Amino acid sequence: MAKKIANEFSYKYVPRKKLKKDDLDFFYVVEKNGRLVIRGKNLEFFFHPSIAKVRFLNIKKGLKDYLIEALEPLGNETVLDLTFGLGSEAILMANFLPNGKVIGVEGSIHIYTVVKYGLRTYRDRSDWINEAMKRIDLWYGNFKELIKGLPNDSVDVVYCDPMFENPIFESNSMNPLRKFAVYDSIDTFDVEHMMRIAKKKVILKSRVGDTMFEKIKVDKLLKGKNSVIIYGVIFKN
Ligand SMILES: C[S@@+](CC[C@H](N)C(=O)[O-])C[C@H]1O[C@@H](n2cnc3c(N)ncnc32)[C@H](O)[C@@H]1O
Repeated sequence: MAKKIANEFSYKYVPRKKLKKDDLDFFYVVEKNGRLVIRGKNLEFFFHPSIAKVRFLNIKKGLKDYLIEALEPLGNETVLDLTFGLGSEAILMANFLPNGKVIGVEGSIHIYTVVKYGLRTYRDRSDWINEAMKRIDLWYGNFKELIKGLPNDSVDVVYCDPMFENPIFESNSMNPLRKFAVYDSIDTFDVEHMMRIAKKKVILKSRVGDTMFEKIKVDKLLKGKNSVIIYGVIFKN
């Protein structure tokens, strides 16, 4: 399996016994259970649905999830998630799109490799996660370039969640991917393209203290009372 992955992603294959760990910043391992992990000093990065589970449980308890409130899913939409990361929010959204899908874009080759493989092979005890993952397709690329080439009105909703300017280090779910993440911010030119591509709306995510919503005007802001996370929505018409 390691040979196959090395081949697919053009990495060098080294049998475990010949691996000189100390010479490497990080390396990929295929574990006995088939899980693909990036390891290095103080580093372990692998795919898992992360906060998708807790957020869905909270919704089931009747609590509001502001991404899903912003999405207002009918169930058949196509969502373009330009900043896929671990894909936890994509999994949550896909769960509310039984007849739709999520197309993800990830600009870090290492995050893309681990997550693409994870989406293909990971199986959860909760069936809704397995079903939601089937409705997700992941592309590798920088969204700033990619959005320039996508046709008008080609998806229903565009979602963008760049890395925060002021990171929340207590956010365990984000910590493992920080080393590999792309740290681009978005500008009005990007938003113009997102609006051109979306039929219905663009949803942006930021946090209290960051400058995204000072630079980019939105129609609606959604935020939990005690949360620092803010979702901004720009409607198409
Ligand atoms: C905050 S994380 C997204 C987390 C995601 N919403 C989740 O639920 O897991 C941002 C991700 O977007 C990626 N990213 C940032 N700028 C990008 C760009 N210009 N093109 C593609 N991906 C980008 C980063 O590498 C990182 O994985």
